Amino acid sequence: MLTAKTKILCIIGHPIDHSLSVIMHNAAIQKIELDYRYIAFNVFPNDLSNAIDGLKSLNIKGASITIPHKISVMKYLDIIEPMAEMIGAINTIKNEDGILIGRNTDGEGFLKSVKESGYNIKNKKVVLFGAGGAARACAFYLAKEVDKITIINRSDARMNDLISKLNSNYSISIKGINLSKKEEIKKEIADSDMLVNTTPVGMYPKVNVSPVNPLWLHPNLFVVDLIYSPIHTKLLQDASSIGCNVLSGVGMLINQGIIAFEWWTGFSPDKKLMKQVVIAELEKLK
Ligand SMILES: NC(=O)c1ccc[n+]([C@@H]2O[C@H](COP(=O)([O-])OP(=O)(O)OC[C@H]3O[C@@H](n4cnc5c(N)ncnc54)[C@H](OP(=O)(O)O)[C@@H]3O)[C@@H](O)[C@H]2O)c1
Repeated sequence: MLTAKTKILCIIGHPIDHSLSVIMHNAAIQKIELDYRYIAFNVFPNDLSNAIDGLKSLNIKGASITIPHKISVMKYLDIIEPMAEMIGAINTIKNEDGILIGRNTDGEGFLKSVKESGYNIKNKKVVLFGAGGAARACAFYLAKEVDKITIINRSDARMNDLISKLNSNYSISIKGINLSKKEEIKKEIADSDMLVNTTPVGMYPKVNVSPVNPLWLHPNLFVVDLIYSPIHTKLLQDASSIGCNVLSGVGMLINQGIIAFEWWTGFSPDKKLMKQVVIAELEKLK
C-alpha cells in the first residue's frame, strides 16, 4: 500500500514512455514487499537541472538516468564514482541524505551478463562496434580482462576519444577502424574471438538491418548485441545461423537494474521475476 512513508525511486529520460525499468523494478519491489515505488519522469534537457534539484527536495532515494541525460547530468551531482568518471557517463543516482552520487552500472551489468553466459573473456580479442555511451561503459570493463579491443565506428572523433581514454587507463592493445574500411574490418573480425554491437543498428522498429556484414562472421566468434528490442536481432540471427554462440542485451538490462536496486535499497531483487516481466513486455512488440 502507498503511504506517506513510501520511498520513491524513479527514471529520468526523454522520451520515457517505452522504458522497461518501471515494470522491472516495481515487480521486484512488490515481490519482496518493500515500501518503495519506482516511477518515470519525462524530463526535457532544459529542465534537467531543476529535476535533479527535485531529487533532493522531494527526498527521492534513487534514480535511473537514461537517454539523453547520461552525460549532461554529471555536472549536477555531488560525487561521481571513479569508474563512471573514467567512462564519462552515469546511469544511476543514489540520494544519500541529500548527497547525490552518480554511478554507471551499464558496464558492470554487461560484464556480468557475459560471464553468466559461461563465456571466458580472459585474454580474448574483441571487436566492438560503436563508440557512444554504452560502448564506453562496456569497453572500460572489457579492458580489465581481455587482450585486445578494436573499436569500429562511423565517426572518427568519438572513436579516437574512446581509444585515447582507454590507452591512458589500460595497457592492453587498443585500435580503431572507421566503419567505411570494409576490408580492414573483415580481416579484424576474422582474427577476433568476440564481437560486440553497441550501436542501435537493428533496434526496433528497424529490425531487418545489421551493423555487420554476415559474410564477415565465423563460427568461433562469440557475438553479443546490446540491443534487447528485439531480443534476437538480425545480427544475432545471422551469427546463430552459422553456429556462433550469441548473447542478447536482455541480460545486461536486467543486471544493470539489479546492481542499481541493490545499491538503492540494500536488498537483492528476484532476478528471475525481473527477467520474466521484461521478456513478457518485449514479446508484446512482436
Ligand atoms: N542492454 C542494455 O542494458 C543497454 C544499455 C545501454 C544501451 N543499450 C543499447 O545500446 C545502443 C547504443 O546506446 P548508446 O547510449 O551508446 O547510444 P549513443 O551514445 O547514441 O551511441 C551510438 C553509437 O552507435 C553509432 N551509430 C548510431 N547510428 C549508427 C548507424 N546508423 N550506423 C553506424 N553506427 C551508428 C554511433 O556512431 P557515431 O559516433 O558515428 O555517431 C555511436 O557510436 C542502443 O541500442 C541502446 O538501446 C543497451
